[in-house]
Amino acid sequence: MEKEILKEILKYIEELVNPSENLLEILIISQTKAGGIIPFWLQKELSEILNIDIEELKETIEFFPFLRENITKKKIEICTGLSCYMGGNSIFINTLQEKLDENSEIVEKECEEACEYGPRISIGNKKFQFVSEEDLEEIIEFCKDDSSNI
Ligand code: FES
Repeated sequence: MEKEILKEILKYIEELVNPSENLLEILIISQTKAGGIIPFWLQKELSEILNIDIEELKETIEFFPFLRENITKKKIEICTGLSCYMGGNSIFINTLQEKLDENSEIVEKECEEACEYGPRISIGNKKFQFVSEEDLEEIIEFCKDDSSNI
């Protein structure tokens, strides 16, 4: 598995004209290929391949918070605009926080100017509209379903 990830990253790096000037880009690709947080073994490999001090590489990862995000987590975007919030999302946030596991992350979103369809909750491309308490189980099941398209 590690070899496959590394092979894909190397292929990407080889196509770059000046890899050492594209560190951020390479780190983003590495994060994607690793399926989340860039593991230490990969940081070490990148350090050697790019001839960059490991501490410098770590500092770059520290500097950009998104490089430390587990991108495999499903993001449940809950509209907290006034209409959606008052329409139920204020309660649904708490319920979902209690029932969802560590593979999901709740993100509060500003009004998406589709208030007439609210309360709204989005998970990737999937939009839940007119959400009521009865819909929460479906949303939770959707989050737990690994095959759901996000
Ligand atoms: S308040 Fe949710 S779309 Fe406007």
